[in-house]
Amino acid sequence: MNRRDAFRALMGFAAASPLVAEEGLLGPVNAHEFEEIAKRKLHKLAYDFIAGGVEDELTLRANRAAYERWDLVPRVMTDVSQVDTSSEILGVKVPAPILVAPTGGKNLVLPNAESIVARACANSKTLFCTGSGAERAVEDDSSVNWWSNTIGQPSRQAAQGYARRIEDRGARAITVTVDNQYQSNRDRNNRNRFDYGYMVTGVPRPGENVQPANPARAAMWQPHTPNLTWDYIGWLKSAVNLPVILKGILSPEDAELAVKHGADGIIVSNHGGRQLDGVIATIDALPDVVDAAGGKAPVLMDGGIRRGSDILKALALGAKAVLVGRPPLWGLAAFGQAGVERVLWMLGAELKISMALAGKANLASIDRKLVRRRPWG
Ligand SMILES: Cc1cc2nc3c(=O)[nH]c(=O)nc-3n(C[C@H](O)[C@H](O)[C@H](O)COP(=O)(O)O)c2cc1C
Repeated sequence: MNRRDAFRALMGFAAASPLVAEEGLLGPVNAHEFEEIAKRKLHKLAYDFIAGGVEDELTLRANRAAYERWDLVPRVMTDVSQVDTSSEILGVKVPAPILVAPTGGKNLVLPNAESIVARACANSKTLFCTGSGAERAVEDDSSVNWWSNTIGQPSRQAAQGYARRIEDRGARAITVTVDNQYQSNRDRNNRNRFDYGYMVTGVPRPGENVQPANPARAAMWQPHTPNLTWDYIGWLKSAVNLPVILKGILSPEDAELAVKHGADGIIVSNHGGRQLDGVIATIDALPDVVDAAGGKAPVLMDGGIRRGSDILKALALGAKAVLVGRPPLWGLAAFGQAGVERVLWMLGAELKISMALAGKANLASIDRKLVRRRPWG
């Protein structure tokens, strides 16, 4: 561990320590306010990397704005003295249908952050969807239920080795990110000369000068998985005895193809507005995808979830569960592990009160009649 890592580890410990965090942790009253604290604590490079979207950030904003176009139509005079938010997702029981989305680059926030978030998920009893650092994170805490996220391996042999390894280590499913064909064109990172190497090494403290990346490293046309096609699903399923979930579906045609090719689950996602700009908001894409999947595979969604009432709308439109990407990172940056747990707790508590006020005592009673979309425009 070098001096910078040691300092950052100490800061992480201090942030997570109840002695220091007690007062602060109870300060923010919603997920948005965790972001404000995180912004103050993070280096600009790191904040922009996490908060940002692609190009003009149309989709980043659309993900949030779209919730305002779906109105809840609550029911009354139902007994909501007990409200049960618990669910079971592909064989894993969770206290609420709120999962943690895979986010690369957590080391921009704290060293060993993947393990810290894994512990927070274990304490919160939620499912942790993790890509980078997964193996170390689950070694550190074997009690966490986790899904392993991949963008597909360079060779089938590598994919097979990977799939078997994560199965042995207890992953409950594999999620394959299908919207990551190329590194996208993110203006904030380009402007900051963001060096993707920081995702591994971490960034300096706020205010500290950084070496700008060689512009070539931030350039476009960096391939990730440009040759991933539908036959990958069947092949992966033959290599491993785990459910395969596709992350990044927006079109009903692709949902039909996913089911046809044997996907065990679908995540409606636009990568939090970080891949192609101008694509449909996820809450708007959700109902058509649910219809196209036709109940043959559970449909989950992510993108812009910041409130329990957002989750309720997604559930009403047919989502089995939602995932949150940035909110746990804001919790992490603000107060370490305790902050992640607090954000997850808050979203669960907000969902519960929203369900009660909508007259829904359990998830099974939530259906599309609970929401109405305002006319376009
Ligand atoms: C900092 C960051 C890194 C991410 N890295 C990945 C990744 O490696 N793989 C992936 O499939 N999605 C990744 N995503 C997208 C998230 O999994 C998720 O789809 C998105 O964040 C949901 O939107 P939200 O942040 O508004 O909740 C990342 C998102 C963020 C914010």
